[in-house]
Amino acid sequence: MKYNIAIDGPSAAGKSTIADILAEKLGFVHLDTGAMYRAVAYKAFQDDIKIDDEENIVKMIEKMDLDMTNDGRVILDGEDISEKIRTNEISMGASDVSKLQGCREALVAMQQKICENGGYILDGRDIGTVVLVDAPVKLYLVASAEARAQRRVLQNIEKGIEADYETILEDIKKRDYQDSHREHSPLRKADDAIEIDTSDMSLEEVTERVLEIIKEKVGE
Ligand code: DC
Repeated sequence: MKYNIAIDGPSAAGKSTIADILAEKLGFVHLDTGAMYRAVAYKAFQDDIKIDDEENIVKMIEKMDLDMTNDGRVILDGEDISEKIRTNEISMGASDVSKLQGCREALVAMQQKICENGGYILDGRDIGTVVLVDAPVKLYLVASAEARAQRRVLQNIEKGIEADYETILEDIKKRDYQDSHREHSPLRKADDAIEIDTSDMSLEEVTERVLEIIKEKVGE
């Protein structure tokens, strides 16, 4: 059976970008678990369900048809919402719904089911500590809030969405605090994860370092 790879870290630390590169190089599938929390927030806004109404959010999740495609699209009830879930409003909404234990339990179960046969790279906040506790490769990517905001600005410009540096920096700091101080599965490095500070590293350097780690851990 193929193994899975866990990548955790704060918002905009480059987890998704690295996961995409690794997936391509290793022939794995990248599952962006943050996009699943974003889809829940999107649907709650659409259905006018309060973001802290756990009971109704859980009922909504049970009924929603969420398809995370192998090529990274997010399809909710037949609609491709991949781009729509990247706004600042949905980012904060996702961080808010991710505090709810019922929401976490439902999404963690979906994530574990998707990757039960291995060959997946999951990126998120609780992958090494909850979702894939037995993964042989666990990475914890960090970078300064300023470096992350700068990168997110460039990414957003490329995608043609909101790209105000101060707003993005503030949003990153707020989510860092919220994601690492929540009661259920707060963001933290798993004891057996390897931390990489990418603040002053190029994408190529991070990729090289990660491939070295994978080689050490699983000999590939
Ligand atoms: O990775 P992201 O920025 O797209 O995630 C959006 C929010 O979802 C993030 O602020 C916290 C939450 N999240 C989580 O609690 N657990 C995960 N595994 C992934 C994301």
